Amino acid sequence: MDDPLNWSADDQEQALRAIAPWYDLDFGPLTDDVEMLQGLAVAGQRVLELGAGSGRIAAPLAQMGCEVTAVDSSEAMLAVGEPRLKQAGVNVVSADMRCLHLGAEFDLLVIGLSTFQHLLRRQDQLATLGAARRHLDAGGRLLIDWTAPRPDDIDPSPPFMQLEWLRRSDSGEMVTKSAGQELAQNRTCGDALDRALSVAWITYQYDAVDEVGRLRRTLARFPLRVNLTVGEMAGLLAQSGLRPIDWFGSWDLAPAGDGDRLIVLAKAAS
Ligand SMILES: C[S@@+](CC[C@H](N)C(=O)[O-])C[C@H]1O[C@@H](n2cnc3c(N)ncnc32)[C@H](O)[C@@H]1O
Repeated sequence: MDDPLNWSADDQEQALRAIAPWYDLDFGPLTDDVEMLQGLAVAGQRVLELGAGSGRIAAPLAQMGCEVTAVDSSEAMLAVGEPRLKQAGVNVVSADMRCLHLGAEFDLLVIGLSTFQHLLRRQDQLATLGAARRHLDAGGRLLIDWTAPRPDDIDPSPPFMQLEWLRRSDSGEMVTKSAGQELAQNRTCGDALDRALSVAWITYQYDAVDEVGRLRRTLARFPLRVNLTVGEMAGLLAQSGLRPIDWFGSWDLAPAGDGDRLIVLAKAAS
């Protein structure tokens, strides 16, 4: 199996080019995290979203009166979001969040819906948190939302390709999404370190069937950092000059450990 640490920006864009046309059908119905963020933001505030994708979060924040800047490195994702982001008046920046220098500060920074898990190496995580710190106003807050660790994250042979949903697309096709997760192997390490690496290959499969029964199948495979704990995030924040204010476990702000998300709200340490 291929080593996820060889994953390049081109590989990432190729995977996102496959996923982007399905992204809004897949994640559009998810609004609980958007509502959480609308509850935290205040109209008139300057908001920066890192890894904004198709604007599922950025556009509604702009529509409630925030001054929103959306950053993403994927041309394919930004292209899908363009009409929505433009209509909402979002300032769009095509850039890698790890080395972002906008020369501006914000009241609220958002790294939403598991975007942080695209950062596979510690140096990428720290570079992104450093960028977040640079763009945070003295009283500003940073919110990071990711998938809480699950037993499957360290299981070398979890069940593969499970049906997630069946929906009808705007063009009338019947679409099913199946997804699978497989612990990645790092060829340079033994099994114990493979697990400590905590990177999984995620496979998304979208099957679209039109009215005459023709099947169009899209497959995309990409690596994600899984098994990211509160302790690990606390250490990363401390090393980046950031201080946690609160931890939550769900989008309705249950305590951390009581849900399938992990959400940290942090400020500049000094
Ligand atoms: C799971 S999607 C989330 C999109 C959006 N925030 C949402 O909640 O619908 C992750 C996004 O992060 C972006 N991303 C991943 N690594 C990035 C990086 N280093 N710099 C900028 N964007 C990145 C991807 O292109 C993708 O659009």
